[in-house]
Amino acid sequence: MARRKKIYEGKAKILYEGPEPGTIVQYFKDDATAFNAQKKDVIDGKGALNNLLSEYFMSGLNQIGVPTHFIKRLNMREQLVRQVEIIPLEVIVRNYAAGTMSKRLGIEEGTQLPRPIVEYCYKDDSLGDPLVTEEHIAAFGWATQQDMDDILSLALRVNDFMSGVMYGVGIKLVDFKIEIGRVYDGDFQRLIVADEISPDSCRLWDIETGRHLDKDVFRRDLGSLTDAYTEVAMRLGVMPKTSTPVTKPTLIN
Ligand code: TYD
Repeated sequence: MARRKKIYEGKAKILYEGPEPGTIVQYFKDDATAFNAQKKDVIDGKGALNNLLSEYFMSGLNQIGVPTHFIKRLNMREQLVRQVEIIPLEVIVRNYAAGTMSKRLGIEEGTQLPRPIVEYCYKDDSLGDPLVTEEHIAAFGWATQQDMDDILSLALRVNDFMSGVMYGVGIKLVDFKIEIGRVYDGDFQRLIVADEISPDSCRLWDIETGRHLDKDVFRRDLGSLTDAYTEVAMRLGVMPKTSTPVTKPTLIN
């Protein structure tokens, strides 16, 4: 059997060369990292859950006309996506204060913001993904003004879609991060949503109880991460309520 060519291995995913030119196979690992990889663990079932959830969000976005890199899910761990040139920015949208914004500005976590706030971080692990302004982005040529207009519009459309989907299942979308890729269609280029959208890159709070259903469960040691992600998947109907868990069964002698 021919071995696939690995293109890149990140903290939570591996990218392999896809079957057609311009495609990539995205493999979701069970590895969890936080605080710029200072905290690490392997969490059984996380990769499969994120694969299913990212498929659900990305294919929903495609359906409503927000372009994404997602083509199809291949199996429990892998999905086929379009190859893109990643813009080196983490695009963060916030509806409620939390995390670094609460720390930076002294706003209590959970405070509703007057309107969605979009922030940009420069994608560089060795620098800890520093917050940057549009001035830095333009001056250093990471994206043009036209790109920034398109990125803002994509980010707000993803926010409306994700907030609505989550609201429908009793979950508050506090904030999230997306990545944007550039694709070329003949003489034209356009920007599309890339990477993943999953509880690894969102803050999701139960509307009734405030329970955290996202990676903060791992960051802040709040219990089982798989239980939290499974809860999101079950509420969305992504995983049938009676299906066998995606974690490995414990073998009894
Ligand atoms: P933020 O509060 O800035 O950072 P932290 O998660 O370290 O407290 O994060 C805002 C949201 O964006 C949160 O849902 C996590 C997500 N995010 C990522 O997934 N990856 C990143 O590199 C960054 C900077 C944020």
